[in-house]
Amino acid sequence: MALLGEITLPGDKSISHRALMFTALGDGVSRLENLNPGADVKTTQNALINCGIGIEEKAGVVHVQGGGLRPFKQPEYALNCGNSGTTARLMMGLLAAHPIHVQFTGDHSLSKRPMDRVFRPLQQMGANLSATQRKYFPLMLSGRDLWALDYELPYASAQVKSAILLAGLHAKGETTVKSPAFSRDHTEQMLKAMGAKINVKGREVTVKKLIKPLSAIDFVVPGDFSAAAFFIAAALLVPESDLILRNVGVNPTRIAFLHAVQEMGGDVSIANKKVHQGEAVADLRIKSSKLKGIHVYPEQIANLIDELPLIALLATQAEGETVVEGAEELRVKESDRIAAMVTNLSGWGAKIFERPDGFNVEGPTALSGGKVTTFDDHRIAMSLGIAGLISREPARFDNPDCVEISHPGFFDELRALMN
Ligand code: S3P
Repeated sequence: MALLGEITLPGDKSISHRALMFTALGDGVSRLENLNPGADVKTTQNALINCGIGIEEKAGVVHVQGGGLRPFKQPEYALNCGNSGTTARLMMGLLAAHPIHVQFTGDHSLSKRPMDRVFRPLQQMGANLSATQRKYFPLMLSGRDLWALDYELPYASAQVKSAILLAGLHAKGETTVKSPAFSRDHTEQMLKAMGAKINVKGREVTVKKLIKPLSAIDFVVPGDFSAAAFFIAAALLVPESDLILRNVGVNPTRIAFLHAVQEMGGDVSIANKKVHQGEAVADLRIKSSKLKGIHVYPEQIANLIDELPLIALLATQAEGETVVEGAEELRVKESDRIAAMVTNLSGWGAKIFERPDGFNVEGPTALSGGKVTTFDDHRIAMSLGIAGLISREPARFDNPDCVEISHPGFFDELRALMN
């Protein structure tokens, strides 16, 4: 069995959330193609509709009726952010200056994730917020006038950076966010393409209060690099594979996983690169490869945070030791992804050891396969789905449907590539 042929991935999840939210502030109708079809992006779409934004789908293209500087109406219901940290945190920033009262809720996982990282800077801008234990959902927001902020993030987080910049679009003055390391810059790229006064100087981003609506856009969302990463890992691990992934987003702030697997000895090449409204897109070709262990350092983490479960898996098949450090943020994702990967892979016979801020792996080891505890986390399910391609027994999931969060049809698409 090998993975052969070519596929396209669903649209990028991070960019899809942003495209829906930012076009709500547009001066007319925006047309968005290839939005991510998963449950998280639908959650953002429903939250915006609940706040009065007109969103319609026609022949696979989503039309957003921008409402200009003051587009939001009092929502009828609580904003249920489901499983989506990006919906939760970016919507808090987006709505903080608008004269509406909003209750934010989420599912079991989201209700355990820290919101004080957004709550605190927004309060410093004058936002009126109250959260359960000053940290968790459910959270109440009463929008009111904000003033600008100069904020130094304690850790690199694109969600927190974006929330502050979105609040800054309606705050009096110039809002600046400084990050200790680079994080994904989709917010900066898209706001620039839509005409916001935004200035990036290294790890410092400044945005000025909007004095006119953002320009409506026609935008085709690139394929999701984080979704591509599962197929990259699969093709590297399954012998005799040769796989092409078309139109994958290769924004430089997203592809540290590509560099990491190349350092491990993975044969991954990039072709047909082009840039559209600030976002680079390319085709990737992956051939199965013999891998060796690597050391992933704290400053690399932000740009491969969502792909770290796959680094753990690849490391179990790589010659020598792999060390991942400085990745404590992984513990507050949809699940504690350090514990989740260590539990599953060590249960399958891997030599993987938990550290407070990451993991160490000694490879290569055979994987037994069998039971998978997904912790209802899409990226854990998909990582173990890939592991199941090379294990003795197939993977048996407690909740395979959790992949619907970012990639509905993931298992069928994977099966279709197997020859
Ligand atoms: C995201 C940023 C990252 C990432 C998440 C999506 C975004 O989170 O893990 O899946 O769209 O901005 P943090 O900003 O909390 O690191």
